[in-house]
Amino acid sequence: MEWFGILDPMEVATLMFFALVTLVLLFLALSALVSVLGGAQFVRTPVELCFPLILELADLSPGDRFVELGSGTGNLLRYIQEQTGCHVHGVELSPLLAVRSWWKNRRNPYVTTELNHILRIDLGNADVVYCYLLPKFMAKLEHKLVREAKAGLRVISYAFPLPHQAPARVIPATSRRAALYLYIFEGRSA
Ligand SMILES: C[S@@+](CC[C@H](N)C(=O)[O-])C[C@H]1O[C@@H](n2cnc3c(N)ncnc32)[C@H](O)[C@@H]1O
Repeated sequence: MEWFGILDPMEVATLMFFALVTLVLLFLALSALVSVLGGAQFVRTPVELCFPLILELADLSPGDRFVELGSGTGNLLRYIQEQTGCHVHGVELSPLLAVRSWWKNRRNPYVTTELNHILRIDLGNADVVYCYLLPKFMAKLEHKLVREAKAGLRVISYAFPLPHQAPARVIPATSRRAALYLYIFEGRSA
């Protein structure tokens, strides 16, 4: 092409390098922005302090389906799958985090990650749902759960309660972690 004649190979390589860096930075910025606009920026649930408690609250039986809403990098998905053998599914809006989760768990067919918005998925066949989202999103989620939850669905939320549901159990906050809330749904409202 003509511009290859104008630019020397070093200039072409430099331009391509900066174009690539710009694309990567845009992808990272977009991924972070999407999380914030979607309902919660990425902050991890503390692993040692919370994962065993979540496992206990989930009380999974063989064949149960565990769904994490806003599954981040997929650490909890892997932990729950390895501890229980159940099928675990993550829903994540940020492309970067969804790709990381998929890559990390790609060899385990019982761990799946979906790039999607929480409010766009069907929760009707979930047995246990876990989330760590922001308060303003919890009301929307509650509305969805009331419509879609099957009888006996267990919902575990880290740090923020569902606004209008009475928890079946609360593990109180300590100085090192927030509270965990467990809800058990009676079934679809209509
Ligand atoms: C506070 S972080 C929790 C991450 C992970 N669940 C954990 O506990 O370590 C919230 C996650 O939800 C994702 N998220 C925010 N809004 C979302 C939406 N509407 N749909 C799907 N994921 C969303 C964010 O990208 C982020 O990864």
